[in-house]
Amino acid sequence: MHEKNLNDEIQRAKELLQNVDAVLITAGAGMGVDSGLPDFRGREGFWKAYPMAKKLGLSFEELATPKWFEENPRLAWAFYGHRLNLYRKTKPHKGFYLLKELGEKKKGKYFVFTSNVDGQFQKAGFEDKRIVEIHGSIHYLQCTIPCTDDIWSADGIEVIVDMEKFEAVGDLPKCIHCGGIARPNILQFFDFAFIPYRTEMALRRIGEWFDYLEDYGYKLAIIEIGAGKAVPTVRNFSEEIAYKYNTKVIRINPRDYDGPKDIVIPISMGGLEGIKAILQDVE
Ligand SMILES: NC(=O)c1ccc[n+]([C@@H]2O[C@H](COP(=O)([O-])OP(=O)(O)OC[C@H]3O[C@@H](n4cnc5c(N)ncnc54)[C@H](O)[C@@H]3O)[C@@H](O)[C@H]2O)c1
Ligand SMILES: [Zn+2]
Repeated sequence: MHEKNLNDEIQRAKELLQNVDAVLITAGAGMGVDSGLPDFRGREGFWKAYPMAKKLGLSFEELATPKWFEENPRLAWAFYGHRLNLYRKTKPHKGFYLLKELGEKKKGKYFVFTSNVDGQFQKAGFEDKRIVEIHGSIHYLQCTIPCTDDIWSADGIEVIVDMEKFEAVGDLPKCIHCGGIARPNILQFFDFAFIPYRTEMALRRIGEWFDYLEDYGYKLAIIEIGAGKAVPTVRNFSEEIAYKYNTKVIRINPRDYDGPKDIVIPISMGGLEGIKAILQDVE
């Protein structure tokens, strides 16, 4: 983006944020990049983060499917166990805290809608009840079969991964009911066993929040950070809500910042830098 255009868009974003009563924060993998996490952008991007997947010739879409929990659970848990360990030790960058401050200041408060499964918003202190994890969370487990609709916390469960062999070693997480292999409560590709209740409850809560904003006449702004185009769930949601509630999406993304001109305020910056820019001096 041209520097002058970018400055104009930052100004528009600030004015919008100054004048609203509530914020919807939507985020994809790019939100984690400034905390040091990889995104999975394109085949090469994914293989850079997981060189062993390259050796096996598996793309993200091919690796992130539930069939591996049946056919090769040590491989499946190498991928998810590594991510579980990585997300557990990651510290959310300052942008998370700035957004939380803004959301808490507004009288209609905030909601988060994310395709990230990493639990970074909770870690930064966002209220769990105000977060929709649309693709589930790595911090919850379910049965692979599944033998029950239960999901349970992964807290206290350790997965050791040999990254050279790309193999989970030792005990694998087990279903607390049938003793079979457990898997993360994450919506994968070609996934017909994902247990949706936790996500559905969160969707119900965000629906109630939209109703409440309407009832009180509270005006909403949407801030979207790092949502990719390959699986456009988050981008689509931001745009749909902008049209429905007659507002705009402030789209922070160093590359994929484009969108319908009538609703998108493009900010061609990284997550942390972009959040700082649009929130400077906003009350
Ligand atoms: N942390 C996680 O939980 C995580 C990580 C990777 C992928 N995923 C899963 O992968 C799927 C694809 O997700 P996606 O579309 O969000 O990811 P993606 O990897 O396809 O896209 C990432 C987006 O982030 C942008 N980006 C890159 N660097 C950035 C930065 N510094 N600041 C802001 N944005 C930046 C890229 O331009 C791109 O648009 C989803 O289903 C998601 O559940 C989750
Ligand atoms: Zn089971």
